[in-house]
Amino acid sequence: MFQSNYSLASLNSFGIKAFAKLYVEVRTISELSKVWQSPQYRTAKNVLVLGGGSNLLFTQDFDGLVIHNLIKGTSTKAENDETTLVTASAGENWHHFVMYCVQKQLGGIENLSLIPGTVGAAPVQNIGAYGVEIKDVMVSLEAFDFQTGKIVTIQKEECAFGYRDSIFKRFAKGQYFITAVTFRLQNVGYHKLNVSYGAIAQVLQEMQVVNPTIADISQAVIHIRSVKLPDPKVIGNAGSFFKNPEVLQEKCDEMLKVYPKMPFYDSPIASHKKLAAGWLIEQCGWKGKNLGNAAVHNLQALVLTNPGNATGKEIKELAIAIQQSVWKKFGVTLETEVNIL
Ligand code: EPU
Repeated sequence: MFQSNYSLASLNSFGIKAFAKLYVEVRTISELSKVWQSPQYRTAKNVLVLGGGSNLLFTQDFDGLVIHNLIKGTSTKAENDETTLVTASAGENWHHFVMYCVQKQLGGIENLSLIPGTVGAAPVQNIGAYGVEIKDVMVSLEAFDFQTGKIVTIQKEECAFGYRDSIFKRFAKGQYFITAVTFRLQNVGYHKLNVSYGAIAQVLQEMQVVNPTIADISQAVIHIRSVKLPDPKVIGNAGSFFKNPEVLQEKCDEMLKVYPKMPFYDSPIASHKKLAAGWLIEQCGWKGKNLGNAAVHNLQALVLTNPGNATGKEIKELAIAIQQSVWKKFGVTLETEVNIL
């Protein structure tokens, strides 16, 4: 069951060639429990729970044990006329799960269509797109606690969700192996579609859709993402490499005096505004540029890519060069969204 010196190249969406010292796949909780009790787990220097590998950058081989979450399964439970609870195992592909819900005409996650990765990884960074975040629809999750070897239920309120943030990136980092996530979705007829994001309304118009359905919104999002974002199966990438920075309102005002067309958004943090990292990076001249074998996507500067032979180190060097440029030009710090190992 354990494999040594295992290639992770096909298991990370950047397509970086890296090896795990030890690798194991788990398909059930009882398999996970056996791994947890094994000497290999007990003596591992580091442990990495791997889902879709779509938010990871390997800058070196992984000196430890990689546990690949392949626990599958989805179930639904009618709650009342308006809502249905849907539980998906953490190893399910996120987009397949969204399509399953769209097909059942359950509303709430259609704006999150085509996001790479697994269901289990979604709460870790509170994935979001086109006006919806996972925190808006999640009820609770089940997780295997590495400290006790027991399954626990964690309610949404306990996750301390923020913009691309949760306890699983902070004090609970490494403590849990998420096994399943439960969502409360709206039944057709009770769901209010979220078309607040400008591009969605525009695409619906182009599609000549007047009364959009859940499936129409999903199609519109798939269209927008396919046009702007590179398909990781074709060009290695991990979506947005940086978070959109949140700055004080005064700082934003100051920047607007110099750059009146700069995009900015309200931030959940009072007295702050959120800036568009992609715009800042483009202004620094990085869009479509390369550094060594690493590149900045030519249609969305927030996405760093591996067009073929980049190493993780080269992508990290490009990220640092971008952070330095943005700091020098705007005095704004860009934080990475991707987990760099
Ligand atoms: N922009 C530029 N140049 C660029 C990229 C963007 O000027 O190269 C400008 C756009 O014109 C727009 C603004 O920046 O005015 C925002 O761009 P966009 O709508 O493409 O969204 P984003 O802020 O770059 C965020 C998420 C995406 C998510 C989209 C849509 C983060 C870090 N990224 O990107 O999430 O799909 O909004 O909601 O919050 C991801 O996390 O991996 C991801 C793709």
